[in-house]
Amino acid sequence: MKTIAILTSGGDAPGMNAAIRAATRTALNKGVKMLGSLHGYRGLVRDEIIELDPPAISNIIHRGGSIIKSARSDEFETKEGREKALETCRKHKIEGLVLIGGDGTMRGAREFTEEGGPPAVGVPGTIDNDIKGTDYTIGFDTAVNTALRAIDQIRDTAEAMERMFFIETMGRRSGAIALASGIAGGGNVVVVPEMHTDIDKVAERIISDHKAGATSLLVIVAEGDDSGGAYKLAEKVRERVGIDNRVSVLGHIQRGGNPTAQDRILATCLASRAIHDLLEGSRGHLLGWRGRDIVRIPFEEAVTTTTSMFDEMLCHAGTLVT
Ligand code: F6P
Repeated sequence: MKTIAILTSGGDAPGMNAAIRAATRTALNKGVKMLGSLHGYRGLVRDEIIELDPPAISNIIHRGGSIIKSARSDEFETKEGREKALETCRKHKIEGLVLIGGDGTMRGAREFTEEGGPPAVGVPGTIDNDIKGTDYTIGFDTAVNTALRAIDQIRDTAEAMERMFFIETMGRRSGAIALASGIAGGGNVVVVPEMHTDIDKVAERIISDHKAGATSLLVIVAEGDDSGGAYKLAEKVRERVGIDNRVSVLGHIQRGGNPTAQDRILATCLASRAIHDLLEGSRGHLLGWRGRDIVRIPFEEAVTTTTSMFDEMLCHAGTLVT
């Protein structure tokens, strides 16, 4: 294998640059040429390909975002789009692909390889931590710590003003960030899209914690919860408990920032392993991290689901999860 291309697809995640750096350094050390497809799969469809050399990847391990840009590509979802992508691969003599992204990226990978695309290995990159088979995805730890910093800061003002706050984290289909930051931040209630939001239960918990002497009350809401998000939930709970509240939507600050040590290490180890796998003839899988081991998850199994860590965290006493 003489040429490998790498891309970042879907929502960007802190640590993607560390992954690009590790894959490129590993490939170059093995005498393999490294290319980058700009804007995820779109770069393959539209032939937006750049060469990744040592200067291109220097000084990026600590930076959020993606130096090769990330995007969701509608064009690649069509057969014509994937045919164009095949042509681009032929033109640049791309013999292997490293695909960094979430479940949508892995679905694209499976289709593309089935239709004759180059051998591919996936690396899980999404702040949502919702890929089956891996304990962690690249970017999750950074996003949780960003949300946690915000929750701690909101707690200060909530405590001083004796207020209830509804804090919305990212996660349209995943409550992982809300749950992790809510538990670490000592939230009274965490609301996640994986479960039905029982508004009466939320109100009951708020009233009982208030009666027990809590002067600041924190409800952490994942953006995709079925009550309609933090603003709507805050209104419904206010009607039931009669305590005034404020809402804070954390938004895309959770997707940026310098990756934590954990995310840099995860990204470096998995992306480097992806190159080794391609060169050793092992492909058609997503790499994951389980316990102390790197594991291989066939593309067809790499679909969105709650992780085992999520299940364990539901047992946490003291925070109502609904
Ligand atoms: O990257 C995953 C994610 O951040 C989800 O948590 C969120 O729902 C979605 O992306 C937001 O996507 P966009 O930035 O396209 O609005």
